[in-house]
Amino acid sequence: MKRELALEFARVTEAAALAAHKWVGRGDKEAADQAAVDAMRTMLNRISIDGEIVIGEGEIDEAPMLYIGEKVGIANQQNHEIEAGETADECSPVDIAVDPVEGTRMTAQGQANAITVLAVADKGSFLKAPDMYMEKLIVGPEAKGVIDLNKPLMENINNVAKALKKELNELMIVILDKPRHAQIIKDLQKLGIKVYALPDGDVAGSLLTCLVDSDVDILYGIGGAPEGVISAAVIRALGGDMQARLKLRSEVKGVTLENDKISTFEKRRCEEMGLVVGEVLKMDDLVKDDEVIFSATGITSGDVLEGIKRKGNIARTQTLVVRGRTKTIRYINSIHNLDFKDSKISHLVK
Ligand code: FBP
Repeated sequence: MKRELALEFARVTEAAALAAHKWVGRGDKEAADQAAVDAMRTMLNRISIDGEIVIGEGEIDEAPMLYIGEKVGIANQQNHEIEAGETADECSPVDIAVDPVEGTRMTAQGQANAITVLAVADKGSFLKAPDMYMEKLIVGPEAKGVIDLNKPLMENINNVAKALKKELNELMIVILDKPRHAQIIKDLQKLGIKVYALPDGDVAGSLLTCLVDSDVDILYGIGGAPEGVISAAVIRALGGDMQARLKLRSEVKGVTLENDKISTFEKRRCEEMGLVVGEVLKMDDLVKDDEVIFSATGITSGDVLEGIKRKGNIARTQTLVVRGRTKTIRYINSIHNLDFKDSKISHLVK
């Protein structure tokens, strides 16, 4: 993948974050998500790629835009040669995993840690996972190779502590603050382990395991599978480690008629996609290659990124871009004059 594409992908998440930011605190998750989706899709279609969405807004019949299997990029636009002055051959074939708003509830409620994220890799690199739950265990580069989701959580935690040369009471685990994790959180705290109970947003939580200026050592818990693949992309890019396991809704949310129906559908989708529910997926199963570009832009300020600041039509964004091959992390601070965005974007961001 061409190195220059990194800046192009940063422009995509910037636009999506600016669009979502208009909806911060307005109590409307769907509108925030839709605006970010529109902006992300518009920007992706301007890049010299032959892209396919492999993790997106849902299956083709449930998402009109950025659905799984949608083709994006200049190679897939009519008249691309006239508009871009290049041929389809010059467009890199890539797979794309997107979450236009990671933290829709936080955006709608004006809370911290909402980001917009995207990961891009060579074709066939990402696990194609249905929209279901996933159990995730993630560590940074210093504990790479010591995790094994087939072993009990405590054994993993002890092994990570050993690898990091830390006592248990020096370890920090990030875990989504959901009722399904309440007992685990209590048990960890009883052992003296520090818990960062994050209300939502486990992609940002995952990133914390690999960033030098974070105290987090481990992410554990059950969250979305699409978010799991996006996390795996950036963790692979940063040299960390991850193992995961697909979970049926009925296993996570309890057995009800409705959850049983959804779980039957999830099982069928897994079979169709060649996946086994409950089987441990290692990093190579989740993301095959280091050749990954990851970009995230803050919508609201959080642990990883500053949120958007606006004065009238001048907006400041902060974006983190990671290139897997070199493991370089770039923070890009941009000042946007929204009066100068073109017509396809300006109505979304102004
Ligand atoms: P969205 O805002 O994109 O819906 O995701 C927020 C999130 O907290 C993810 O980070 C996490 O993986 C998932 O939701 C957990 O799902 P649930 O809210 O059902 O517990």
